[in-house]
Amino acid sequence: MRKTRRAKLHVRKTYKNSPRKQSSFLQIFNGLDIESEEDYKEVSEAGIHKLGKLFTKYLPLQNIPVQNRTFYDLGCGIGKLIVGMALIHPQLRSIGIEILDERAQQAGIALGRVSKHVQNRCGIMRGSVENSNFSYGNACWIFVSNFFFSQEINTLVAQKLSQELPTGCVIQSVRPLEDTRLVLKEINRVSIAGEGDAQLHVYVKE
Ligand SMILES: C[S@@+](CC[C@H](N)C(=O)[O-])C[C@H]1O[C@@H](n2cnc3c(N)ncnc32)[C@H](O)[C@@H]1O
Repeated sequence: MRKTRRAKLHVRKTYKNSPRKQSSFLQIFNGLDIESEEDYKEVSEAGIHKLGKLFTKYLPLQNIPVQNRTFYDLGCGIGKLIVGMALIHPQLRSIGIEILDERAQQAGIALGRVSKHVQNRCGIMRGSVENSNFSYGNACWIFVSNFFFSQEINTLVAQKLSQELPTGCVIQSVRPLEDTRLVLKEINRVSIAGEGDAQLHVYVKE
């Protein structure tokens, strides 16, 4: 049934009057939340939209061949960002890489709660982001959640991205990535759930 304008207004007011009420997006992750864990910093719902806008600013999806319309979240945790990106961008495949079994499993549970149309465009792979089993050659947009990557992993992943990514691919990361073929375009900010903002480095692969 289509929502009338009055019904939509009601939903908006209800949300405003009870700010603790979760959005339907966050409800997908009910019972899986690990925000309280100290080493877990995830992009907020508003932040997911911001990342999408910045990716589009440097490389709109319509300029990308269909086979390369793939977003990777390197360090995807329970998968909020990959699900969020797939929901906002219906032409995008959205793949997460996660090192911890438990989080990869939770991401799988979250994926089981979304429509087949979204599910079919999402994937979770378990392992470390720099592992040679993974190939990012079909990517257009990459987010590197490198808050807690060791210096070694950070260097290896920067090298891997600069070797494998197609020219023009956009990479955003919370900590700098050092490689001469990743050209820094801007330093912006992104909001982190339950915290303040984090720095956001935006690169384009040369
Ligand atoms: C901060 S969470 C981010 C979650 C997600 N990117 C988001 O914003 O919603 C970072 C995740 O990276 C994972 N991680 C850390 N080192 C990793 C590595 N070398 N390879 C893959 N994942 C890693 C952690 O286990 C953690 O779940």
